[in-house]
Amino acid sequence: MKMKFIYNVLVISSMALITSCSAGGDNPGSEYAPNMYHSFAYEPMTQEAEKPNTINPNGMNMREPVKGTIARGQLDYSKYALPNTIEGYEASAVFTNPLPASTYNIAEGKRLYNINCTPCHGTEGKADGTIVVDGKYPPPPSYDSDRIRTTPEGKMFFSVRYGKNLMGAYGTVLSPNQIWQVLHYVNTLKGSAAPVATVVSTAK
Ligand code: HEC
Repeated sequence: MKMKFIYNVLVISSMALITSCSAGGDNPGSEYAPNMYHSFAYEPMTQEAEKPNTINPNGMNMREPVKGTIARGQLDYSKYALPNTIEGYEASAVFTNPLPASTYNIAEGKRLYNINCTPCHGTEGKADGTIVVDGKYPPPPSYDSDRIRTTPEGKMFFSVRYGKNLMGAYGTVLSPNQIWQVLHYVNTLKGSAAPVATVVSTAK
């Protein structure tokens, strides 16, 4: 008898719980621990329409860095802000790699090169990446070709950042620091054995 009573209480109370929780129409239902969903604290990197920040400009929860701020360990981006034009490409010839050719920078460059560049340029930079070998893509210039050996590193930086003809832009993927690291690694590939493919892309 007692068991039945307890059972009934449980059934009724769980039904009551289910109906009171159920959302419908304008009723969002009951929320368990609502603070988990609706943070009292301001969320960083956001701008909340229903709770605009009253201290910062435009209701933002974080302020923008002061103009000209350079993150620690990063380069001054503005220095490399040349327009993506033929003139910009020519003007970039004056840039030289600001990072030391340290073991760390070369190793980091190699890591980034292997991720981003090998499909076309190949692991040794001989224009024999998988999509080139498969005949899906015209070979880029080999790094040990005269053409690349005589291209100023500033221009290479520009090309990697903005892309060149068939090669896509890496400015959104790699920071200027990282591009210079990759170019340190590319440098190590310039002097190896004779070029496998020196064919320059025929794309306009
Ligand atoms: C989808 C294939 C592809 C990928 C991926 C690729 N490249 Fe290229 N790359 C090319 C082609 C094609 C050219 C020749 C562009 C031209 O001059 O027509 C080229 C040219 C270059 C040049 C010579 C630029 C100049 O100014 O003459 C450099 C340096 C270079 N690539 C470096 C890189 C680096 C570093 C990466 C990785 C971050 C990379 N490439 C990724 C296809 C690629």
